[in-house]
Amino acid sequence: MIKEYFGGSDIAEQIYKIENACFTRPWEKDVIKNSDKTCFLVYYQDGEAVGYVSINIVLGEGFINNIAVLPDFRRRKIARKLMGKLIELYLPRCEYITLEVRKSNAAAIKLYKDYNFKQTGVRKNFYRDPQEDALIYTLYKAQKILAIESSCDETAAAVTQGREVLSNVVATQIDEHRLYGGVVPEIASRRHLEAISGVVEQALSDANCTVDDIDAVAVTNRPGLIGALLVGVNFAKGLALQRGLPLIPVHHLRGHIAANYITNQDLTPPFLCLMISGGNTVLCKVNDYDDFEILGATRDDAAGECFDKCARAMGLNYPGGVELDKIATVSDNKKYPLPTPSLSGNHLDFSFSGLKTAVINLIHNAQQKGEEVDIPVLAATLREKVTDILIEKTIAAATQTGLKKIVLAGGVSANSEIRRRFKELENQGFAVYLPKPEYCGDNAAMIGVAAFYEKARGDASLNAYATAPLND
Ligand code: KG4
Repeated sequence: MIKEYFGGSDIAEQIYKIENACFTRPWEKDVIKNSDKTCFLVYYQDGEAVGYVSINIVLGEGFINNIAVLPDFRRRKIARKLMGKLIELYLPRCEYITLEVRKSNAAAIKLYKDYNFKQTGVRKNFYRDPQEDALIYTLYKAQKILAIESSCDETAAAVTQGREVLSNVVATQIDEHRLYGGVVPEIASRRHLEAISGVVEQALSDANCTVDDIDAVAVTNRPGLIGALLVGVNFAKGLALQRGLPLIPVHHLRGHIAANYITNQDLTPPFLCLMISGGNTVLCKVNDYDDFEILGATRDDAAGECFDKCARAMGLNYPGGVELDKIATVSDNKKYPLPTPSLSGNHLDFSFSGLKTAVINLIHNAQQKGEEVDIPVLAATLREKVTDILIEKTIAAATQTGLKKIVLAGGVSANSEIRRRFKELENQGFAVYLPKPEYCGDNAAMIGVAAFYEKARGDASLNAYATAPLND
């Protein structure tokens, strides 16, 4: 339980006990007692004060004095809970919260970074016994970001603040592309142009704000259909320039990863991410919010593309992956044996084109012989095969990296069997994180949250790029 106190007079004894056990130069009891302008949050375990954090707020600036947990109670996430509560209670009342930390205190620095504190300075030789530099870390109040996404067949806009989604509007073009069995790029660009103003207006109105309340504009500028991307990029550029707002370019796949930060507020890097979407299948190590290491990727078709193309041969509507998941029943590998891809070289790479060809050939052969294919069973067999491959590669990557946190991202992570089977990995000691189904497909909320962690800024020369690796 965490209790809040203004001033130290009632709790000086308890705070002193923690200080004394944690620091070589603890606060004096009288100093604590007379800290009448200081706010204390104290963590109680079975009635005993075992940890605390204190902050002074002066003219909208918050200064954290100390955060300490009794040695016997460490490694129980108590500091984390105190920091979370402190930010929840005090950041809304400040412009920023700042603190100093010993340069060598890696555990504390990790905690601050996890809460999105950024290093903003150094105080040379600030500490004594032993003498050491202090690093200054600062957490700024999250900006309100207007995010725009138009990389494929969804025109989307959202207003986000940190990891919070204040509004999320998606205008999909799927019905129109369905007529052609896939996305027609030229039509996509035209529809984006028609929809974008209305979608942005709706996102602002749903978030109960106007452009005047927005602090920055974020936009997907890579990778995607070039004509479609350009609509969003030019709209965002125009708005940012006219309003004098910062412009944040966002990589579409990093957005998909960030969808997990919305759904799982406690998720922090490092983790292993399996990105499965219509155009990409990538296994990567997310070292930090803006630091990605690609471990493996598809050499041909993406998992979503394999689902979509097989579904088309099965006579299902676009986007076939969704339909295929709905109609799939019980898999039967004896009835429809499907090949397992074998690859030389990087064992974390994927290949789905052989599987796709096998399914399409199976259907065509049956048609030529006038035989009927049990589509729900074939769909389930394919779904199971793709899931087996994804799980096998992800476990191999987890073993290689030693990472126990597994995160799924991208449109295909909406697949019911993939979700179920990955969740089962929790029985093998993994922590598995999935985005909520509404954030699996393309949306702008994920772009806004990714932008919150991006350092890059764009200007009038910002361009769109059809292809771009995840770590570019
Ligand atoms: O991430 P996304 O919305 O777009 C890209 O950025 O590529 O992914 C779209 C892909 C499509 O291939 C679609 O068929 C697939 O995600 N998908 C699914 C499911 N829902 C969407 N695939 C299998 N099962 C699903 N339930």
